[in-house]
Amino acid sequence: MSEKIWRNVDAYIGETLVQPDEALEQALHDSRAAGLPPIAVSAAQGKQLYLTALSIGARRILEVGTLGGYSSIWMARALPADGQLISLEIDPKHAEVARGNIERAGLGSKVDVRVGPAIDLLPKLEGPFDLSFIDADKESNAEYFAHALRLSRKGSVIIVDNVVREGKVIDPKGNAQVQGVRRMFDLIASEPRVSATAIQTVGDKGYDGYLLAVVTG
Ligand code: SAH
Ligand code: DHB
Ligand code: MG
Repeated sequence: MSEKIWRNVDAYIGETLVQPDEALEQALHDSRAAGLPPIAVSAAQGKQLYLTALSIGARRILEVGTLGGYSSIWMARALPADGQLISLEIDPKHAEVARGNIERAGLGSKVDVRVGPAIDLLPKLEGPFDLSFIDADKESNAEYFAHALRLSRKGSVIIVDNVVREGKVIDPKGNAQVQGVRRMFDLIASEPRVSATAIQTVGDKGYDGYLLAVVTG
């Protein structure tokens, strides 16, 4: 089975069920035009993040890795009027593009994009967050997950993107990104306060997967 059919099915899902609107399409367009890498979540994944936030009634959301704000826009749309999303981004140019996209989507008052290395910004945050989405440099996934857990309450949800990477996750001698993912898996495996799974995915973004964790204690 080829990647072409995965993409075609994602297109079909996008046309029928997801229907990304003008603000989301414009966010991708402006991100591309500004030279940002094309690594935002797919439309189907973006809507899954939105539906997750909606289903748990999220009022405060944490994101690590903003890029052009595409996933931020999806998630922030699930927030109530007084809800808040804080998104951390190391690259000032990415943050600037994201702020423009978020403003145009009418979400400027709900989304706070903070610039700096996430590892420096996370200790300054106060919880609890109802939902955390980790999608930055994979090398530091274990540290980001530990912070997300610290900033959670019982019942909070933590989602981590890109944990399968064409199957590379099962290579104990994998590169620094793989090591970052595997250290996070080990941390979660030995963490009694968290219940987690990982789901493999195919689609627009090739063969990858995401981790879903619920804070149970
Ligand atoms: N969540 C976005 C995609 C994020 S891509 C979406 O789906 O739309 C990963 C982002 O993480 C990039 O913008 C990159 O600049 C940022 N990043 C990389 N290392 C980082 C770090 N140490 N701290 C904060 N952000 C980082
Ligand atoms: C990369 C990062 C991502 O968050 C992603 O979804 C896909 C690719 C990357 O750094 O290559
Ligand atoms: Mg990602």
